[in-house]
Amino acid sequence: MNLPLDRDKPVPLARQIQAQLERLIRERLLAPGTKLPATRELARTLGVNRATVALAYEELCAAGVARAHVGQGTFVAEPGPAGLRAGGGAGAPAAGERAPAMDWSGLFSRSAQIIGAEEARTPPPARADGPVISFAGGMPDSGLFPTDAFRRVLNQVVREEGESLLQYYPVGGYPPLRQYLSTYLLRFGLEARPDDILIVNGSQQGFDLIARTLLDPGDVVAIEEPTYPRALQVFRSFGAQLVPVPWDADGPRVEVLERLLERQAPKLFYCQPSAHNPTGLAMAPERARRLLAAAARHHVPIVEDGFDGSLYYGARPAAPLKAADRDELVIYIGTFSKVLFPGLRLGWLVGPRPVLERLQAAKQLADLHTSALIQAAVHRFCERKLLDRHVARARREYARRRDLLLGALRRRMPAETTWTEPTGGFSLLVTLPPGLDAGALLAQAVERGVAFTPGAPFFVDGGGARALRLSFSSVAAGRIEEGVRRLAEAIKAARARQRGRARPARLGVPVV
Ligand SMILES: Cc1ncc(COP(=O)(O)O)c(C=O)c1O
Repeated sequence: MNLPLDRDKPVPLARQIQAQLERLIRERLLAPGTKLPATRELARTLGVNRATVALAYEELCAAGVARAHVGQGTFVAEPGPAGLRAGGGAGAPAAGERAPAMDWSGLFSRSAQIIGAEEARTPPPARADGPVISFAGGMPDSGLFPTDAFRRVLNQVVREEGESLLQYYPVGGYPPLRQYLSTYLLRFGLEARPDDILIVNGSQQGFDLIARTLLDPGDVVAIEEPTYPRALQVFRSFGAQLVPVPWDADGPRVEVLERLLERQAPKLFYCQPSAHNPTGLAMAPERARRLLAAAARHHVPIVEDGFDGSLYYGARPAAPLKAADRDELVIYIGTFSKVLFPGLRLGWLVGPRPVLERLQAAKQLADLHTSALIQAAVHRFCERKLLDRHVARARREYARRRDLLLGALRRRMPAETTWTEPTGGFSLLVTLPPGLDAGALLAQAVERGVAFTPGAPFFVDGGGARALRLSFSSVAAGRIEEGVRRLAEAIKAARARQRGRARPARLGVPVV
C-alpha cells in the first residue's frame, strides 16, 4: 500500500499516515475486517521509521477506526458509534477533503446526455419473500435456476479445455455453440448456418451493435409500442428519432408502419413478435406475413427481438419472422437470459452475411469477444439436454403462475380495468380505468404491500400513463392471489380519491 505523504508539511508523518488511512476507511476503499499491512512492510514502502507507522496504527485504534489483535495484526474496525470520529461517519465527506476537482458536466457526449445517469441505476430486485409482493421484475425466477448442474459443466469445461477457453478467442464465438444454435433454431423453423450466427453479450449488446452499425444521428427508427424500454433507449442514445407503431391484439399495426415507410423512410423497424415484453402477446401469423411484405417493399430491415420461442404457454410457439425471411431483411436477436440465466450475458445475432460481418467488426471493437468459458459451459449444458429439461420445468411453472395471475385478475380487478392475456414470456400489461395514473398509483400500492412497473417507459413519448406491467415469472405461486388483492384495493382506493381529487406523488421503478 502506498500513501501520499508530504515531507515539507509541518504535520508529523505518523499523523499524515493516520489521516490517509482514516480517509481510505471512510471512503470504503478499505472495508471493515481488512488487515492493514504489517508495520515493517508499510514502513519500508513509505520510507519511514517502523515506529512512525506503529504510532499511526495506535492512534487509529484509539479512535476506534482499527482494532489490534495480538499476534495477528491490525484490522479495519466495523463502523460503530466510536468509529470514524474524525470524518463524521462513513460516506460523509470530511471537511476540507476531496472537493470535486474537475467539472465533467460539459464533456459528456450527446449520447450520454440523451440517456442520463438515472437510466443505469437499477435497484437490487425485491426479495421474493419480503413484505412487498413484487410483480416488478421482468426476469426469470432464480429459485428455479439449475445452478448445481451448471457448476458441474463449468468445472468440466475448465478442466478439459481451460487453456484455450481462458485465452483470447475468435470474436464470432465458440464453434460448437454456434453449431448447436444452428440446429436448435431449426425447432422454430429458423435456418441459420453457424457462420450466420454471431455470439454476443446478451440481447442488449445486440441492440448496441445494430444501432452502431446501422444508425446515424437523426435517422428515424420505427418501433412497436408498447415495447422493451432498454431497446428504445439504445436507439435513442444513438440520436435516432423514434416513431411508434402501436400494437393491437394481433401485433404492430401494419397500416401505420406502411404510412411511416412511405413518409419518413425509417432506417429500421424494431419489434418482438412473440413473448412480447410487456404484453406477453404474440404476433398473429397473417400480421407477420404482412409486416414482412411491407418491409420488403420498402427495403427496410426488421430487428426481431426473439426473446425465446421456448417460453410459450399456448399449443405451439409462434414462428420467428426470421423463419420466413426470404428477402434477407431480418436481424434476429436471441438470448439465454430468459431460458437459462441472465447473469451469463450470453445471446446471439442471426443476420444476412454482409450485415453480420459489420456487426462482428463492431463487436470486436467493443469487447474483442464474449467469454469463451461461458460459451463452452452453456454449450455443454445444452448438449447434455440440461437446457431442455430446465426449460420444460420452468415453462410449466411460469404457465401455472400466469394462469393464477389471470384467474386472480378476473376475480378481483375493479370494473374498467383491462389486461392482456399472455401466450409467452414473463408479463402482462394492465390498463387502469380512465383518469388513473400508474406512476402515481405505485406509491399507494407499495404502501399496501404490492409493486409493479408503471407503463410509461414502455411507450415512446409520454404515453402509457394508465398502463402497468405485472410480471408473474418471479412471484411465488402462493403469493399471486394476495398480490392481486392488494393491487385491486390500491386501484379502488385511487378511484375513490380520484373522486375526491387528491393526487399522490409519483414513484419511478427502473425496468428490465
Ligand atoms: C424484450 C427483451 N429484450 C431483451 C432483453 C435483454 O436481454 P439480455 O439479457 O439478453 O440482454 C430483455 C430483458 O428483459 C427483454 O425483455
